Formats: sequence, C-alpha cells, structure tokens
Amino acid sequence: MTVLIFGGSGNVGRALIPILYASGAKIRVATRSTAYAASLPDDIDTVIADMDDPSTLRSAFKGVESVFLLIANSPMETHQGLSTLAIAAESPPRHIVYLSSDLAVRAPMIPHAGGKFAIETALRASGIAHTILRPTYFAQNDLVQKDVITAGAYATPLGPHPVARIDTRDVALAAATALVDIRAKNEVILLSSLDAPNGNETAALWSIALGHAVIYPDLTPEEFANSIETMVPPWLDFDLMIMHRWFKTNGHPINQEDLEAQAALLPQGPRSYRSFAEETANTWQSETQSHQVP
Ligand SMILES: NC(=O)c1ccc[n+]([C@@H]2O[C@H](COP(=O)([O-])OP(=O)(O)OC[C@H]3O[C@@H](n4cnc5c(N)ncnc54)[C@H](OP(=O)(O)O)[C@@H]3O)[C@@H](O)[C@H]2O)c1
Repeated sequence: MTVLIFGGSGNVGRALIPILYASGAKIRVATRSTAYAASLPDDIDTVIADMDDPSTLRSAFKGVESVFLLIANSPMETHQGLSTLAIAAESPPRHIVYLSSDLAVRAPMIPHAGGKFAIETALRASGIAHTILRPTYFAQNDLVQKDVITAGAYATPLGPHPVARIDTRDVALAAATALVDIRAKNEVILLSSLDAPNGNETAALWSIALGHAVIYPDLTPEEFANSIETMVPPWLDFDLMIMHRWFKTNGHPINQEDLEAQAALLPQGPRSYRSFAEETANTWQSETQSHQVP
C-alpha cells in the first residue's frame, strides 16, 4: 500500500513519517523542497509538488491508496485544499486522512479555521472515503516562544478559560493508524488531551518545569499581535489575533465524552501538556548547558 504524505517536513509530518516508515508502509512524500526530498531515505518516494500550482499534484496522486492531507496555514489555504481535492478526485485514492482543526466547527470566523470548514465540506462531497482529524491547540506551539518563556513570561494570550492541548506526536500517531487502516470510513475524530490549562495555569506549569518563575502578563490579543508583528506576515498576525480573541472569550474546553472516538486511534491515551512542558524544559536546559561547556 502506498501512502502519500503532504506536510512531511512540518511539525506533524516530521513525527508521522518515522511511524509509517517503521510500520513498513510504502511512503511517497509531496514537497516543494528538493533539499528536503533529498534528505529522506532512498526507499521513500518523493514528488516535487506545490499546492499553489495544482497541476504539479497529479503525479503525486498516481497509484496511491491512502493520503495524509495537510494544508499549511496561508492566505491560500482554502484554495489549495479545494484544488488538491479536485486533483485527488481525478484518480481517487481509497482513503484520505485530512488534518483539520477542532476550531473548524467551533470558531469558523477565524480565517484559518473557516477554511478548514470549507475543505471538510468538499471532502465529504467528494465521495472519497475519509477520516477527518480535528486536533485542538498543539502543545508544540509553545516552542516558538522559547526565548520569552525561558526569560520568565508566558506571553501567548490564552485568557482565563481552559484551552485544551494535544501533542503533535499524538496527532501523528493517530494519523498513522488511520492511514494504514484504509477500512476507516467517513469519520470525524477530535484529537485532544484533557489537559486544558488557561494562561495563568500554563505559566505556572512552565514555572514548575523550568524551576524558576514564569509569569502570565495577560496581554490583550492586540498587544500580543503588536509584539510579533515584525516576526510574522500581516495576514498571520491578524489571523492569530482573531484566534486569541476567541480563546480569551470562550476558551476551548474538552470533556471525556468528546474523546471517545479518539481511543480507536490512540488506545494508550494522549500525552499530557504537563509532560510536554517538563520534557521541553529539560531539553532547553541541556541545550543551554551544552553551549556553556568550553
Ligand atoms: N498549531 C495548532 O495548534 C494547530 C491545531 C490544529 C490544527 N492545526 C493545523 O495544522 C496544520 C499545520 O500543521 P504543521 O504545524 O504540521 O505544519 P507546518 O509545520 O506549518 O508545515 C507546513 C507543511 O506544509 C507544506 N506546505 C506548505 N505550503 C505548501 C504548498 N504550497 N504546497 C505543498 N506543501 C506545502 C510544507 O512542506 P514543504 O515546505 O516541504 O513543501 C510543510 O511540510 C495547519 O493546517 C494548522 O491549521 C494546527
């Protein structure tokens, strides 16, 4: 069985490929990057393809049974997703696993979430058997805040309500299981841990993990957007501001009943956010120590 992977070089894909590789599945990775393609083992097939030029996707879909469909966040996300599905429908695979987001239905006014609502709708209408994965907030989002967190502040304005997390390694594990079991049919599966620390609680977890005070400055979404505006493109700065406004008002709580379907893909249960923070703090501290060794 050949599994086609989009997004192999990203956060989820980097964890997904080794799991599939170890399972013995035949893997084909679609990427825009010749350097990344060259870095993969020889027995992984690669296709240079760009969702901004849908005609480049045709050769990627040839002869594959199962597809991991990840569309990166961009102003073109919806167009890329719909175009890729149109190309897939020309020679349909047996099963598509689409990486959506739980916000696609809860908060479709957030641009990168509403796009997923449209792509999910098109996937259902395509008639291709599918599994839609709807993860909550990635624990690994905090990695880009390393310098701020280690300096003593958790600045992401998550607000006072619970915000559920999922580790991207568990998203990858769930995706790998769904990709190999191509009997899976037209399901929507929420992926999350029950860990849902709010802004203050998240800062407290980092304080324990790092062994020094980490405060939660309770920035407004607008203040946070201003603080990162030189680091991200304007569309993303705006999109994140809308998302943080939504988190501040609503949070993103998850109940045990919401997770029943997930057990089929993650029978051992998801990792906790606390263990992610502890593991990450250890890694950051050992990196600092190794830099200090003369
Ligand atoms: N962060 C969260 O909390 C969260 C929660 C739920 C859902 N999500 C969703 O997860 C997805 C992001 O996953 P991620 O973090 O694993 O990805 P990522 O690290 O942002 O990587 C993006 C991947 O997409 C590929 N890509 C980008 N533009 C492309 C194009 N034009 N054509 C083909 N491939 C393209 C890149 O591959 P190459 O560069 O190799 O071409 C790369 O592997 C988004 O849809 C996001 O909304 C995120």
